[in-house]
Amino acid sequence: MDMVIDIEGLNKTFGKNQVLKNINLKIQTGEMVGLIGASGSGKSTLIRSIAGLETMDHTSKHIKIFSEPTQLGHRRTSSYRSLRKDVGIIFQQFNLVGRLSLLTNVLIGRLAHNPSWKGIFKLFPKAERIKALQALERVNMVDYAHQRSSTLSGGQQQRGAIARALTQEAKLILADEPIASLDPASSDRVMNLLCDINNQDGTTVVVSLHQFEVATTRCDRIIALRDGEIVYDGKACGISNADLIELYGVEEGICNLGAERPTPIMKAG
Ligand SMILES: Nc1ncnc2c1ncn2[C@@H]1O[C@H](COP(=O)(O)OP(=O)(O)OP(=O)(O)O)[C@@H](O)[C@H]1O
Ligand SMILES: [Mg+2]
Repeated sequence: MDMVIDIEGLNKTFGKNQVLKNINLKIQTGEMVGLIGASGSGKSTLIRSIAGLETMDHTSKHIKIFSEPTQLGHRRTSSYRSLRKDVGIIFQQFNLVGRLSLLTNVLIGRLAHNPSWKGIFKLFPKAERIKALQALERVNMVDYAHQRSSTLSGGQQQRGAIARALTQEAKLILADEPIASLDPASSDRVMNLLCDINNQDGTTVVVSLHQFEVATTRCDRIIALRDGEIVYDGKACGISNADLIELYGVEEGICNLGAERPTPIMKAG
């Protein structure tokens, strides 16, 4: 099976604060991976590093995407840009350009595939406009295609961001807390879409989630970060309540006490 993400020895320091510590991680095509961990544990920094929005410390080895290096040590490689076109990114908020229509935002997903002057003058070929409308239909947002994005609700904007990743034909979707600002019904809709894209299209999805239950019910594989280190990497059912208390502290852990879970296999380092 093909490797979508291959990280070796990723360190990341801000000032004196080392926020990622020797991260080693391999993710294969078609995986649905949930990234969990307390606030400040490094989830966003890890996602941003994979997306090339942060450069690693020079002590790091590599980040490869689709088996091609995007970062070696402290520098981005020349193939970084061409690889980025296959990566769709969804953030907690500010996903869409507010003053542009939803359709234009979704078409932005095609920019990496187009000569830039066409995109700037909004000369998207008809085929791409059709592709964008089909994506909006899939996320049930086609009725809002011509509405300014700033006037859409949070859940609608997230579905728009998913439509953009679909239009981009992303092979890897990185979603950083995509449901953190949404109500339960909108969260369900967004997670259903991400799961459906993973199941139906075989798109690899890495999603960071605050809600532990959402992560374990929706993702096959869970990666838990604590203070910048991977402390668990395995099947969702292998996480115990004791692990949760370790990860989130006593109160959150107790809130998450649920069904009996098998004994965990904690990964050292
Ligand atoms: N640009 C930056 N400059 C300085 N410090 C940063 C920067 N980005 C992140 N950090 C620090 O890195 C650590 C990890 O932050 P990160 O945002 O990755 O955590 P997180 O797990 O995503 O947290 P949350 O669940 O709150 O989103 C934090 O201590 C944060 O303050
Ligand atoms: Mg974060």
